Amino acid sequence: MISERNETGEMAEYRDLAPTTMLAPIPAVLVSCRAEGGRPNALAVAWAGTVCSHPPMLSVSLKPERLSHGLIRESGEFVVNLVDAAHARALDYCGVRSGRDGDKLAACGLRAEPMPGLRLAPALADLPVQLGCTVRQVIPLGSHDLFLAEITGVRVREDLFDEDGSLHLERAGLIGYSHGVYQRAGGPIGFFGWSVARPDVLEKRMSRLRQG
Ligand SMILES: Cc1cc2nc3c(=O)[nH]c(=O)nc-3n(C[C@H](O)[C@H](O)[C@H](O)COP(=O)(O)O)c2cc1C
Repeated sequence: MISERNETGEMAEYRDLAPTTMLAPIPAVLVSCRAEGGRPNALAVAWAGTVCSHPPMLSVSLKPERLSHGLIRESGEFVVNLVDAAHARALDYCGVRSGRDGDKLAACGLRAEPMPGLRLAPALADLPVQLGCTVRQVIPLGSHDLFLAEITGVRVREDLFDEDGSLHLERAGLIGYSHGVYQRAGGPIGFFGWSVARPDVLEKRMSRLRQG
């Protein structure tokens, strides 16, 4: 049996809620940006997603009233910085204070550094992964505008590679966001294709993953 939940044969019961956004868990990321001549800013973004492989593209949805919305519209650039547990407080701070009221990066000990390939938007130093993005389209949806962007540069922190050059993103301690709560990942439970993997492959890959 593929599913592990139905072994008792009992039917789960459900409660209907008013229509709302409830995809979970999702990443909450720090999006950094800067306009010509201005200071770097960053905001927390949970409405972010991968939208295309070739060309590599992602989306972020921003309310027009965010300072960052205007900065990104003006510059056409931003950096998505993936967030680990060590930076979770900074993520929250950048999501509840506006750059209009002060230097958020200084307030939470974040340092901006140039993102190769981008002219204005900086990356945030020490965060595990930095994705440089160039805006291709802005689509007004209602409360939020959808920024569709091409990922034009990817930087991954050195300590996430092993001696063979393989990337171990699972070692980064990336956090997830579920309906208002930040969560640490609890450890690997599988890998792409594990439901159909040969038993020897499954055992080898899982034991390597569990060793971290
Ligand atoms: C976890 C979290 C996720 C958020 N996600 C979004 C989002 O996807 N889009 C958005 O417009 N605002 C989002 N916000 C709110 C902005 O980050 C917040 O309004 C921020 O203060 C805007 O900063 P700025 O005015 O300096 O751009 C989020 C806040 C938090 C705490």
